[in-house]
Amino acid sequence: MTERIRELIRKLERERSLPEAEYAELVRDRDEEAAELLAALAAEKRKAVFGNAVYIRGLIEISSICKNNCLYCGIRQGNPCAERYRLTAEEILACANEGAGLGFRTFVLQGGEDPYYTDERLSGIVRAIKERHPDCAVTLSMGERSRESYEALYVAGADRYLLRHETADPGHYALLHPREMSFENRMRCLRDLKELGYQTGTGIMVGSPYQTPEILAKDLKFIETFRPEMCGIGPFIPHRHTCFRDEPAGTLELTLFLLSVIRLILPEVLLPATTALGTIHPRGRELGILAGANVVMPNLSPVGVRKKYELYDNKICTGEESAQCRDCLEARMRPIGYRLVTDRGDAPVWKREPART
Ligand code: 5AD
Ligand code: FES
Repeated sequence: MTERIRELIRKLERERSLPEAEYAELVRDRDEEAAELLAALAAEKRKAVFGNAVYIRGLIEISSICKNNCLYCGIRQGNPCAERYRLTAEEILACANEGAGLGFRTFVLQGGEDPYYTDERLSGIVRAIKERHPDCAVTLSMGERSRESYEALYVAGADRYLLRHETADPGHYALLHPREMSFENRMRCLRDLKELGYQTGTGIMVGSPYQTPEILAKDLKFIETFRPEMCGIGPFIPHRHTCFRDEPAGTLELTLFLLSVIRLILPEVLLPATTALGTIHPRGRELGILAGANVVMPNLSPVGVRKKYELYDNKICTGEESAQCRDCLEARMRPIGYRLVTDRGDAPVWKREPART
């Protein structure tokens, strides 16, 4: 590692911020030694805030139907080969009940932008989960909606919302999405979510087509200034039925590096070691935790639909029962010195916006 890179890492640790040009430099000129130093500092920060606790979030993939056509995504509307399903309210509730029995205190309802889930239907599902499990947090990850819709879902009891920004560069955004989608609307959604009081998650795919160190620098600056409570980053993985089928996947190395950088920027952020990271490397999630992540998201979807929620090729955890996924992660965390904890794991209260009315 050059003296310059060591200096940038020290500055990042101290100030939790770098000018955009220096983020780009750090990404561009990184090497193994720099990654090791960053990971050590990130692990230290994470330990100071969270000890050796790793939070679990139960992921329920409620629909593979999507009206959008994001170029990278396997469940894009334009993929005629994608197998479509939609869970009923009863099925979703059954997944949550099973999850609660396994110790989960957060349920993440994720799905494509499926018009079936009107505010009324989705609010009903959120209410039902909160009624039955008042001690649990409900996180939604259902894409772009109107401010009114986000508000209705918040009033119904949703606590958190995940909506990756995907890229902070408008030109790059346009290369990854169809013309009907806009960077401006994505930013509007994120602003609305935060203003309404959601604990808000954003994030990117690492190694998405056309991504450069300069674009990643914009992402890091966006993450620094937006201050999300959660940040989901995982490698881009090509899906055989998308136009990006021949593009290379994002690397383990760069994903781990960015996890460490993000932990230094936002010591309190909830940072998952994602399923995509576990897909590109057999120990990807363990390595993610060691690099600074502090959340894992085992799959609680009914086993019968898991293969159909295929955002990218070769996704892991599609054959396992929910209990198996939980036990598997427990067994992966123990040998590296971490333990799964079952509390809700909210973002620190002082960071949050005004209470629900
Ligand atoms: N590879 C990796 N991640 C993907 N996502 C969608 N398609 C892919 C892919 N091919 C991610 C997006 C989205 C999240 C739900 O899944 O970042 O926000
Ligand atoms: Fe799902 Fe390991 S976490 S099988």
